[in-house]
Amino acid sequence: MSQPEVPQKSPYAVAVEAGKSYRWCACGKSKAQPFCDGSHKGGEFKPVEYKAEADGTVYFCGCKSSKKGALCDGTHKSL
Ligand code: FES
Ligand code: FES
Repeated sequence: MSQPEVPQKSPYAVAVEAGKSYRWCACGKSKAQPFCDGSHKGGEFKPVEYKAEADGTVYFCGCKSSKKGALCDGTHKSL
């Protein structure tokens, strides 16, 4: 499996709404980070759905190396 692109080595803080679904960009190519804009088409990556359970701020992974998928787990600090 090839490596995703790295739009930034830090998370994106996003205000999410309870019950709403978000499509996190796993390939790193989207121009609408941290979300998918369809730029992955033709490659091996697919967006990851994240459903917000509550209103609040979520830290989506910007380095695309998190072991928690869409959410930052601190892995960016070791890049
Ligand atoms: Fe990156 Fe869709 S643009 S997963
Ligand atoms: Fe990717 Fe933090 S931004 S793990």
